[in-house]
Amino acid sequence: MASNDSLDLKTARRLLNTTEDLHAKGWYHSLALPDGSVIQGTQSLERLERRLAALPIPLDLRGKRVLDIGAWDGWFSFAMERRGAEVLAVDCVEIENFRYAHRKLGSKVDYRIMDIYDITPERVGRFDIVLCLGVIYHLKHPLLAIERVCDLTRGLAIIESFVADENHTHTEYPWMEFYESDELGGQADNWSGPNEECFLAFCRTAGFARVTMLEHTTDHRMSIACYRRWEPADSSTAPAPTLQLALHSQNNGINFSTRHDEYVSAWLLSSRHDLNRDNVYPEICGYGVRPIYVALVGENRWQINFKLPPGLPAGWQDLRVRLNDTPFSNPVALAVDVPATASNLHLKSACDGVDWTTGRVLYEHGRVTLWVSGLPANADLHNVRVYLGAARLTPDYLQPEPDREGYRQINARFPRTLEPGAADLTVCLGETGSNHFPMVVAG
Ligand SMILES: C[S@@+](CC[C@H](N)C(=O)[O-])C[C@H]1O[C@@H](n2cnc3c(N)ncnc32)[C@H](O)[C@@H]1O
Repeated sequence: MASNDSLDLKTARRLLNTTEDLHAKGWYHSLALPDGSVIQGTQSLERLERRLAALPIPLDLRGKRVLDIGAWDGWFSFAMERRGAEVLAVDCVEIENFRYAHRKLGSKVDYRIMDIYDITPERVGRFDIVLCLGVIYHLKHPLLAIERVCDLTRGLAIIESFVADENHTHTEYPWMEFYESDELGGQADNWSGPNEECFLAFCRTAGFARVTMLEHTTDHRMSIACYRRWEPADSSTAPAPTLQLALHSQNNGINFSTRHDEYVSAWLLSSRHDLNRDNVYPEICGYGVRPIYVALVGENRWQINFKLPPGLPAGWQDLRVRLNDTPFSNPVALAVDVPATASNLHLKSACDGVDWTTGRVLYEHGRVTLWVSGLPANADLHNVRVYLGAARLTPDYLQPEPDREGYRQINARFPRTLEPGAADLTVCLGETGSNHFPMVVAG
């Protein structure tokens, strides 16, 4: 049986209902028309002005692109246009009020009907400022939507939502209410109510560098400023960390795809003892991203893990890392959306990986070493495949640079299931396979 507490909570959620007022007025946003008249909506002009004044948006937006997601009657879109921005307003339903206001104001705001999940940089480009106000709680997949917002943002996104907790009630773990039916405000199109911590965590996790709470009002509204870039470094002379290595966190390769949710593991040398997720600043192509993991793994050696920042162009991109009071480290290049292809792989020789006997591997040694030419610069431990007979081996070393004849050494471990006897060794990358090199598995 439900407790009184949960009954009270459910009643409170259901009472958050503004539909009657909305139906009576016919407009959500109030609107001042050029003839001096004002259309009164559920949100008064004073309230709208107050909401806008709380946002860190410059008054002069000339030369800037702004996206307003969930524009409804369009008050925020038209306000951004008045500041000089080129504005795209998007909503998942076409709102006649928006069209009316657009005509009356002589607006040039571009208006498109799209679902938030379908608004991609390929379709609409990227924006200096993205507004996503009052939309998140309407969504079943709030984190996915905030990831979309991050990918569309070059500078600043303002994300505002209903939040389920009272002001600043800190809990040990973030949590979110889920509304299967009309529990929130008696409306069936409200799905999720994150608490304050959860909403902040979603924004950080989506790939923003810095996330700052702007307001958490008594009517359960919270707005967050989400920045793609770190604040400029001060002119400290503290020594920069040394960046040793950066790999794909799951497959140990150097290739990354912007089409997937991918994480980088990087290793830093720093004599500092206090590194944590708040004072380590990775950056690629100017986009910062907050680490999800920072740990000391050796003497002065730190491992950090972080999401590949959304919005990177295809190509070799430099990762750099700075600490809160240092300049940036040396760069380490990652291959982002770079196709890995080879036209001609030549396997010159192979031997046991422990006693170096050519053409024979001992089962108990479990390792093979080989030399292959024709690999592209972005060949890595994940995309290079090594087979001994039908068994797939696990490469754990790939010589970074080819020797003078173009060959790179690969060391690979073989599985315990490997059968003894004669077997051909081959190296493959994508569709291309090398010549076969005859081997014997002994022991
Ligand atoms: C509460 S209103 C917010 C209006 C305005 N942004 C504001 O904050 O004053 C929510 C708006 O989000 C739109 N919306 C809801 N789900 C959406 C989705 N999946 N994609 C795009 N817009 C959506 C609704 O149609 C509506 O216009």
